[in-house]
Amino acid sequence: MNNIDWSKLGFSYIKTNTMVCSRYKEGRWSPVESCTDDRITLDSLSASLHYGVECFEGLKAFYGKDGKIRIFRPEENARRLIRSAAYLGIEAPSEEMFLGMVLRAVSENKDFIPPYGSRASLYIRPLLIGVGPQLGVKPSSETFFSVLVNPVGAYAGGIDDPARAVIAREYDRAAPHGSGSYKVGGNYAASLYAGMQAGKAGYQAVLYLDPKEHKYIDEFSSSNFFAVKGNTYITPYSETILPSITNKSLCQLAEYLGMKVERRAIPTEELASFDETGECGTAVVITPVSVIEDKPSIQAAPTVVYSYKNAGAPGTKSRKLYDKITGIQYGEEPDIFGWCTVY
Ligand SMILES: Cc1ncc(COP(=O)(O)O)c(C=O)c1O
Repeated sequence: MNNIDWSKLGFSYIKTNTMVCSRYKEGRWSPVESCTDDRITLDSLSASLHYGVECFEGLKAFYGKDGKIRIFRPEENARRLIRSAAYLGIEAPSEEMFLGMVLRAVSENKDFIPPYGSRASLYIRPLLIGVGPQLGVKPSSETFFSVLVNPVGAYAGGIDDPARAVIAREYDRAAPHGSGSYKVGGNYAASLYAGMQAGKAGYQAVLYLDPKEHKYIDEFSSSNFFAVKGNTYITPYSETILPSITNKSLCQLAEYLGMKVERRAIPTEELASFDETGECGTAVVITPVSVIEDKPSIQAAPTVVYSYKNAGAPGTKSRKLYDKITGIQYGEEPDIFGWCTVY
């Protein structure tokens, strides 16, 4: 038993029972192990440390209304990790191995899954890194794969606490034709400086534009962008953003709820015509964005301020989508698309 106050969970580190891991070397994965120590020993010349040969995933498990555990769309994360690893040229676990290790990590840490009703969840962090000593800039022939879990509450404000966002005109998180659509650590390192500047200036979110022309909306540093206009759900189509599993699910739910869905390039000026905007992703779920400021630099005075009528609360369509997706995750709503792994 642990003595966590579930109502006070944020998004910080909590040590759990075990981390589940395996190592790929000389053409084979080692038997999967559960370690009580979540520190790892690495060669100091590991390519993950020097050259960013690293990718990861983020998904969640929930205690449902019926007392069962639900993991949300884990096979999607397995496929995305395999795609990121292929980009880095390293060996990834198969989908089956990924799912087995995720399930094992959740089972061994059941006592860290927040109880139903707390609106919190168990965040699952699969990590794949290039290990083994090497000096040259090349993919690693050895990899280490681990699955660690951490109970979490809201990532930032949450559904009832809309964010203020700034458009990052002087920074890009990804290059045209670069790594933006892969879940690799370098993209996050590239977003930290702008994030720090924005935090100092009082913003909770940084909105990146397409890195080629700086005309179209790309995404936030750790979530996708969506907007609602009348009965239409609109989200960017871009080669430089992470294909969010939450966003993909929200598109399906929006259609199911009778909304029109558009996935297309969104010029910044169109921000003026939206009724609701928000961030979406595993960690943020849906966090409404009440104000978006466009300025030449994060420190400058805003050139244009876009504000949304539901400032201070989620818009009605955002709320409806949030209730639907969390309803499925907590087993309160029928899982119409068969998204959850239940046990
Ligand atoms: C850059 C970025 N975009 C979008 C997302 C949302 O993706 P998902 O819904 O799969 O968590 C994340 C979070 O994982 C992210 O880091």
